[in-house]
Amino acid sequence: MTSTPEKNNLTTPVTEVLNKHVSVRQYTDQDIDDNLLMTILNASRRSPTSSNMQTYSIVVVRNPEVKKELAVLTGGQKHIEACPVFIAFCADITRLEAICEMHGQTLTKNLETTLVSSIDAALVGMSVQTAAESFGLSGVMIGGIRNNPKEAAELLELPKGVYITYGMCLGWPKEDLIPDRKPRLAEHVVIHKETYKVDNLEGEIRTYNQQLKAHYEAQNRNLDDDAWSGPIAKKQEKPNRPKLKETLESMGFSLD
Ligand SMILES: Cc1cc2nc3c(=O)[nH]c(=O)nc-3n(C[C@H](O)[C@H](O)[C@H](O)COP(=O)(O)O)c2cc1C
Repeated sequence: MTSTPEKNNLTTPVTEVLNKHVSVRQYTDQDIDDNLLMTILNASRRSPTSSNMQTYSIVVVRNPEVKKELAVLTGGQKHIEACPVFIAFCADITRLEAICEMHGQTLTKNLETTLVSSIDAALVGMSVQTAAESFGLSGVMIGGIRNNPKEAAELLELPKGVYITYGMCLGWPKEDLIPDRKPRLAEHVVIHKETYKVDNLEGEIRTYNQQLKAHYEAQNRNLDDDAWSGPIAKKQEKPNRPKLKETLESMGFSLD
């Protein structure tokens, strides 16, 4: 029988890794051994997957020229060039299509198919990050890959029915350049017990703005008082990646 852990024993190697997480964008020149990488990727493939459909694929990129091009496609993110390994986590419905064809069915694509495959890709990627960090590696997820999804897909020779949900830089961190952990919103703002309740949301946002401002000030970076909400609000003025729907549709996904 599984028992509830003692109150004074609520730390495991996994919670320690999760609690230490920071995104790291500067790496040493040391490569990542392929055995280590495959250990991480194969452990991560134990992640749950919707109806065991496994509607994702992983593309590992080590080629410096390709990483250079990916850096350009993501808006000049230099850490993609700097990291020894870039991983593309892809939603992949090609196997669903093949299965349907084998059984004389037609794949009915809709928003759910797109969500299922994107969630599968997101889950396996999160496991990769945790497993990698448990070995002392560091990295950062790259949503910027969706700036130019079609061009990135062409570069990695992805077939129709595959798009990169997000990427990930992985490498050995430059120890003296590991950033401090970024504060998170208060737990009662995001964790609800039984029913959803938040009192004084604006006050909570202002409190978090102050915490984030102090976090950046400790790194000699000065931000406005609205350190968190200001830039986020500004970004919402215009729709982000307005052509994404038609681009994903042209790549074989449905958003209806
Ligand atoms: C799906 C996703 C996409 C992200 N895309 C980028 C990106 O394109 N470039 C980048 O530098 N950081 C990216 N990040 C990293 C976030 O900015 C970072 O996780 C967040 O600021 C919190 O910081 P922390 O991870 O250090 O705690 C992304 C994170 C996630 C989860």
